[in-house]
Amino acid sequence: MPKRVLTPLEVNHLRKHGFSDTNPSLGEKPVEYLTGHAEFCGLDFLVNESTLIPRLESEKIVQLVEQFIANHELTHPTIADVGTGSGCLGLSLAVSLQKKQIPYTIYLSDISPQALDVTKNNASRLLPSTVNLFFEQSNLLENFPKIKFDIVLANLPYIPSKNISILDASVKDFEPLLALDGGPQGTSLINQLIKTLPIFLSDLGLAIIEIDDTHTLKDFTVPNLLSAKIEPDVFRVPRFLMISPRLRK
Ligand SMILES: C[S@@+](CC[C@H](N)C(=O)[O-])C[C@H]1O[C@@H](n2cnc3c(N)ncnc32)[C@H](O)[C@@H]1O
Repeated sequence: MPKRVLTPLEVNHLRKHGFSDTNPSLGEKPVEYLTGHAEFCGLDFLVNESTLIPRLESEKIVQLVEQFIANHELTHPTIADVGTGSGCLGLSLAVSLQKKQIPYTIYLSDISPQALDVTKNNASRLLPSTVNLFFEQSNLLENFPKIKFDIVLANLPYIPSKNISILDASVKDFEPLLALDGGPQGTSLINQLIKTLPIFLSDLGLAIIEIDDTHTLKDFTVPNLLSAKIEPDVFRVPRFLMISPRLRK
């Protein structure tokens, strides 16, 4: 396999996890798939070929949810993390709420049983107890109990199918297609999820859904009683579709 020049971040990552940085026959393989670890919100997550490597820009979802919980003084938030993969979003929130001694109920779901195994491992490693966590293998919210969530968050596949072949080799050759391919326009799964929000989102709730930066509000079909806006990520790129009941600002 051809050698590549590693960035200082990659070198640090390999050293931190006990791997040599002098002879990495990695090709384009992300270092996280070699070590089996990835950092997100300052936490160490296990990853493997069944899970996406958590991205820095997704951390803002955790911050937005924390702000929402604080602003609305939620004393026991009920949260759904749809397409949880490694569990990075829902579990980072669980760790943060645990530290603040705020009780929570968090559902973590994925269509991939292999990914959900990684979520469960991460939950046991990162939290003293998993009693307030529920793990669902589910197509979107299909297998969920019909309860109302204060917060529904989702980082579902959103890359338009035709763009998969032009992604960097480090992504298209190593990350699971199931975590990338969002259908012809990249919006199929997101629109299916949005359609079910009137059933699952509480009257005062908020949904935060990560989207492709080529998407605009016109690409999404938001049910009548809900309103939507798009928030940028840390790179000032439009990235998060925020949906809440109409009467609420
Ligand atoms: C882009 S990855 C995001 C993973 C993780 N939430 C993160 O932010 O790193 C999308 C995840 O959605 C899952 N997924 C794909 N199709 C799904 C579906 N129909 N229902 C639920 N999860 C799905 C994939 O298995 C993958 O774990």
